[in-house]
This record gives sequence, structure tokens and C-alpha cells, in this order.
Amino acid sequence: MSDQKIFIFDTTLRDGEQVPGCKLNTKEKIEVALALEALGVDIIEAGFPISSPGDFESVSEISKVIKNATVCGLSRAVQKDIEVAGEALRHAKRGRIHTGIGTSDSHIRSKFNSNREEILVRAVQAVKWARNFTDDVEFYAEDAGRTENEYLARVVEAVIGAGATTVNIPDTTGYCLPTQYGEKIAFLRNNVQNIDKAILSCHCHNDLGLATANSIAGAINGARQIECTINGLGERAGNTALEEVVMVFKQHSHLGLYTSIDATQLNPISRLVSDIMRMPVQPNKAIVGANAFSHSSGIHQDGFLKDSQTYEIMRPEEVGAETSKIVLTARSGRSALAYRFKNLGYEFNRNDIDFLYEQFLQLADSLKEVHDSDLKEMAERYLLVRA
Ligand code: KIV
Ligand code: ZN
Repeated sequence: MSDQKIFIFDTTLRDGEQVPGCKLNTKEKIEVALALEALGVDIIEAGFPISSPGDFESVSEISKVIKNATVCGLSRAVQKDIEVAGEALRHAKRGRIHTGIGTSDSHIRSKFNSNREEILVRAVQAVKWARNFTDDVEFYAEDAGRTENEYLARVVEAVIGAGATTVNIPDTTGYCLPTQYGEKIAFLRNNVQNIDKAILSCHCHNDLGLATANSIAGAINGARQIECTINGLGERAGNTALEEVVMVFKQHSHLGLYTSIDATQLNPISRLVSDIMRMPVQPNKAIVGANAFSHSSGIHQDGFLKDSQTYEIMRPEEVGAETSKIVLTARSGRSALAYRFKNLGYEFNRNDIDFLYEQFLQLADSLKEVHDSDLKEMAERYLLVRA
């Protein structure tokens, strides 16, 4: 069977922007949307139009400038929400309404004071309202991660019957294990009669640090869309990180799944989003963290300098990162020290390095990291004494 495409649905501008402190104005949102389009995302969730006049304007303006990607607006399963989303998407070349309702017993009872049958009716009605505005309707079954599979299958079948072309199975609370989430997708594929008429989508939150693993499990089991954000931004512990899923499929091509993302733009867009949202990226973040291509222990540095593949599964340039770094700390070894001296223009022999290494260790024990300026000073002092 030929490789299958995984559609990338980016929700940085909706779920990501919900993070306290990450709010963007229309101009900033347009800048990010254009960068997302250039990155190659298939669907840009631009906002939640009924939530504020500012968000309505953002979705509307983004709809005017985006040419290739689908622009999506979120709504609840409420007629007015859907009408406002439809209006905000009026100028979109390709517009999608994303509507839905909570389907877990917890949501049905606590949020809606309702029952399963009534929620099913409301779900179908919401999709029908949305279809009055566009043929591209995505339904989300909020808290699907904790929704009983048999009931979820009934909801999915009903909304597809009403015209939903994508059905989102959110693990809203980040509760599922990858095996459970994968089995949920497989269950839907095997038990929903009209499943061939829609794409299943993964929208996994990261409360247990499993968002990426769950999304990948969903895709392996037949989901063909992943909802994700740049740098994994999103409610609470965040969403699935776009950069992670893209590189998982690239690294594991045997899965037969691919995306249309230009991976060389992953680091530049990570920096753009981090700067514009004023939300720093943790240094040890996969793919885009400052330490993602840094080597600091002696054993790793020695192996990396002999062959980068011993400690790197991808090259930094593949993901648009700066070159790999050899960081000098008290855990570094002689080969790293010699390498860094060489980069600074000092060619020392083995005896020189043995001598300098002792000095280096004393300095490194008192500092978090030894910088080029420290090395230059050390080298010049040594050359004076040696002469
Ligand atoms: O996490 C969630 O369930 C959501 C939905 C609105 C799709 O963000
Ligand atoms: Zn979410």
C-alpha cells in the first residue's frame, strides 16, 4: 500500500492562544498564520469567532490572506456560535467550521445537566447548522478520551450521517495511555458503519506528557489528521507539538505515514511563535529546544566528534536549527576541549591538552559552563608559559 498522508491541523492560534499571556492581536495572528501556511500546514484553526470581536476580526482577516491552507473557526454546538463562525469565514478560499459538544458522562451530566440521547440530537443538529455555511464541517466529541467507546461510536456515526467530513476525537484531559487512545481509534474504524465518509482526527492534550505518543498511536490505528500546536502550546500542559509529530513520521518512515510540512522551517517558526507570544521554549524541548543539539558529557562528546550519528538521530539543519554544539562543562572530556580550542584557532598536541585539561577542570568546577573567552585566556596564558 502506498504511503498515507497525515493532515496537519494547527491550532496554535486557537488552543495555543488560550494560554494565559499568549493572546495575540489580529496583526500578530496574521503573521503567524502566514508562517504556518509557508510551513505547509493543511488546516489553520484561526480562532473562536464568537468568543470576542477581536477573535472574529482575526478569523475574518486570516480568511482573506490565506490561499492554500483551509481556515477553520471553532464553535460550540450552538446556532449563534455556528452562524458567527460561518460569517467570519465568509472570505475564506477554503473554510471549515469546527463544532462540537462534550460526550463523556462527566461532561454530559456536570456541564450540560443532560443525558446521552439529548446530546446525540444536539450534535447532529450542530453539524446540520454548520453545513448551511460550508461542506467542510468538523465535529469534535469533547472529552472523547473518557467517553465510553460504544456511545462514542453512535455519536460519530450520527454526525457523519448529518454531514461531518472530519470527526475529532479529543483526549481533552490528556488522560489516555497510547494503547487506549489507539484502541479507541481502531474501535471507531471497526464499529462505525459510515466511517469511510470522514477523516478521524487526533486532538491530544499533554497532562501526562503523552500527547505526542497518543497522536502517533491514533495515526497508526487509522486517524488521518493530527491537531497540534507549535512548541506544544495549549490549555494547561499543552497540546501535541507539531514539530514532534512531523519528525516522528520522518524518522519512522516504515510507518508509511507522511505530512506536507517543510521541516527546515520548524525552528524558525518555533522562535517566531515563542517571541510573538512571549512564551519561552524549555531548553530540553524536543526538536526546537536550545539543547536539542547540544552535547555536554565527555562520553557523548567523544562519540559525537567521531561520528555525529552516535548521539544524533537527525541533523540540526534538517529541522532548521543552528549547528550542533559542544558545550564545555566539568563533565566534558579532552576530545571536546581539543575540538573547541581548534575551532578557536589553537592546535595543541596531546601533552598540551593533558596539561590544559587539568586547568580546565578546575575552572569548570567553579562555573556552570566554560565559554570561548575563558578558553582564549587559558590558551594565551599557556602559550606564554610554554614559550
Ligand atoms: O481539547 C479539546 O477538546 C478542544 C476542543 C474544543 C476541540 O480543544
Ligand atoms: Zn484542546
